[in-house]
Amino acid sequence: MEKKLLQDQLRRPLRDLRISVTDRCNFRCSYCMPAEIFGPDFPFLPKDQLLSFEEITRLVDIFSGAFGIKKIRITGGEPLMRKDLPALIEKIFQIDGINDIAMTTNGVLLSKYAGQLKQAGLQRVSVSLDSLNDDLFAKINGRGVKVDAVLKGIDAAAKAGLKIKINMVVQKGVNEHEVVPMAQFFKDEGHILRFIEFMDVGNTNKWNMEKVYSRREILEDISHVLPFEQISSNYSGEVAARFRYLGADSEFGIISSVTEAFCSTCNRARLSAEGKLYTCLFSGDGHDLRTPLRANKSNDELAQIVTGIWENRHDRYSEMRDKNPERNVSRKKVEMSHIGG
Ligand code: GTP
Ligand code: 5AD
Ligand code: SF4
Ligand code: SF4
Repeated sequence: MEKKLLQDQLRRPLRDLRISVTDRCNFRCSYCMPAEIFGPDFPFLPKDQLLSFEEITRLVDIFSGAFGIKKIRITGGEPLMRKDLPALIEKIFQIDGINDIAMTTNGVLLSKYAGQLKQAGLQRVSVSLDSLNDDLFAKINGRGVKVDAVLKGIDAAAKAGLKIKINMVVQKGVNEHEVVPMAQFFKDEGHILRFIEFMDVGNTNKWNMEKVYSRREILEDISHVLPFEQISSNYSGEVAARFRYLGADSEFGIISSVTEAFCSTCNRARLSAEGKLYTCLFSGDGHDLRTPLRANKSNDELAQIVTGIWENRHDRYSEMRDKNPERNVSRKKVEMSHIGG
């Protein structure tokens, strides 16, 4: 198949495919799946509505073959809740042209699966951890899970040879006092920590601007204790701004989607577990690829559908949020647990 580099309406290329493999999670983080909404009766996707591993692999094959996608990130919910996940990684790893497979996880199941995942071809993991304090972390994750369960997962991933980054969502009034302890801890551990500004993804997390601990505030806190300098991005479209600690060979990052949006270089497509393609983390709805997949459309026909979606894209939600906050924040948006962040 001849490769076509796609560009959207704002001339942004399609480079990165993020695939959610389940909408379920063993955590109930208040900013993502608040327990009072995602309760025992929540209608998670039934199995027959999930893309099968064969269907996911076929789409990756098309994204690679038709559009030259090289980088895949597996997300959830919690991706390790999907049965036999290493088998999917193995299938994706075998696809020509895919040279970077990463996964975003809460880490607790890594102790069990890290070895198998590495063996299957996974190269990198982003592990979410919002505090080093047991009581606070137990409260944030909504399931009473202790910090040690995640640290054990991180250790297992390191031992297996996976590259590791840590993601910390910082909420004002909740865990901003953990910014410096987390920076110190992961500097010593040698893992890159990225601070993420609390975002208004979905409609259930009671976001408001007052709960955002900004990039500026985070940098200020760290600068009092650990001096640093900003360094350049690894690649165009990297969402984290990078900072190197002075006198050390380690770095941290900040993902400032709220106070310093990065939509102008956004080159990511997101595939939900039931096969909808989303062109923005803040989209109201996605484009159904499962129906054409199951209607036996050819690879060329599927590639045409994706071409149409990307070429019509003009999303830049984070840059627009402030123009009309009332309307933008409250309009219908997909939940983070549905498309994986
Ligand atoms: P690499 O740079 O490849 O290591 O990965 P990454 O940092 O893009 O992946 P990761 O899943 O760890 O991203 C961290 C978090 O940044 C996500 O979970 C989201 O919260 C946020 N994020 C990632 N991409 C976007 C984006 O396109 N828009 C916005 N607003 N936030 C994003
Ligand atoms: N704002 C910022 N980050 C979020 N994440 C989940 N919900 C939010 C939100 N509302 C992060 C998680 C994880 C990744 C999937 O996205 O902590 O690191
Ligand atoms: Fe689960 Fe991650 Fe959402 Fe927390 S942020 S509820 S770990 S998917
Ligand atoms: Fe991309 Fe949407 Fe995030 Fe902007 S808000 S960077 S367009 S995903």
